[in-house]
Amino acid sequence: MEILIIVAIPIALLLLGGAFLVVGQTSSFLQSTYFNSRQRHSDMIIQQYMNNLILAQTQISRRSRELELLAGKLDLSNQELARLNDMKSKFLSMVVHDVRTPLSSIKGFSELMIKKTTDKKSAEYLKNISLASDQLGRLISDLTDLAMIEAGKLKMEKTRVHFPEIAWEILPAIRINAQKRGVELIEHQFPEEIYIDGDKFRLSQVLMNLLNNAIKFTPAGKRIDLSFRKEGRHIVTSVKDSGIGLHPSETKKIFEKFYQAKHQKDEKLRKQGWGLGLSIAQEIVHSHSGEIWAQSAGLGKGSTFSFKVPVD
Ligand SMILES: Nc1ncnc2c1ncn2[C@@H]1O[C@H](COP(=O)(O)OP(=O)(O)OP(=O)(O)O)[C@@H](O)[C@H]1O
Ligand SMILES: [Mg+2]
Repeated sequence: MEILIIVAIPIALLLLGGAFLVVGQTSSFLQSTYFNSRQRHSDMIIQQYMNNLILAQTQISRRSRELELLAGKLDLSNQELARLNDMKSKFLSMVVHDVRTPLSSIKGFSELMIKKTTDKKSAEYLKNISLASDQLGRLISDLTDLAMIEAGKLKMEKTRVHFPEIAWEILPAIRINAQKRGVELIEHQFPEEIYIDGDKFRLSQVLMNLLNNAIKFTPAGKRIDLSFRKEGRHIVTSVKDSGIGLHPSETKKIFEKFYQAKHQKDEKLRKQGWGLGLSIAQEIVHSHSGEIWAQSAGLGKGSTFSFKVPVD
């Protein structure tokens, strides 16, 4: 029995050692297989990234070549555009200049003949000629301003101005216009002791445009309010009417040149103008570091046009 134990123990130990060796070798084999497959996987991903990168680089260089081509074309069309714009401005000033002289002859002679004629019918026709030439004269002067704006030559001659004088000079003619159209013009308190650094003639032109628009777009029997208020370092002038109003989508667009509100259906009113007055007014107000804007509760609900300029 003792001999059996003595022989069995070393054999058992030998077998156990062998088993450990086999297990150890198998696990290191499994480990290396696992690491190899991981390595292959990451190599594949890196390769994929590289491929994508090369593709992106090719696309970028293709796109930048296209972009260069487009930029070249754009540069050419910009030059062409500038040339055409220049031609348009020159043409505009030429037309304005050439129409002004014959127009003043038409106006002058028709007025002279009105005084001389005794025939009622002829006097009426001559009056129509005179009115039409007034209308053309206004268009010519608006086009002159537009040509000057486009050429960057609309210069403001600024002096220290007593603000109410801007209104005083134009109001007599405006009152007559309002009366003729049957619209009541209410003039609220003028601001005392307010001075600005501005171009009196040009700012009067702004106010005149707003008041004439208000009279034009307000039916007979309704009213217009002209008011002023101080707002910090600015003086605000407002012309509020109870006329045809504005669609909310158009309160900004109407300041673009030649724009007339599309939602207003009255063709007759539209034909009385060219959509220039507000764009010129805006240019003048901006040249005074000011702002001009329109508000309306909607079509048929009247509008308020305001502009503000800094006080001196
Ligand atoms: N008080 C107002 N009420 C309603 N709509 C107005 C008023 N003032 C201006 N508008 C709208 O804005 C448009 C542009 O006005 P703007 O003064 O620029 O041009 P116009 O009066 O049509 O023509 P112009 O001033 O060149 O004789 C007008 O055609 C009109 O549709
Ligand atoms: Mg107008």
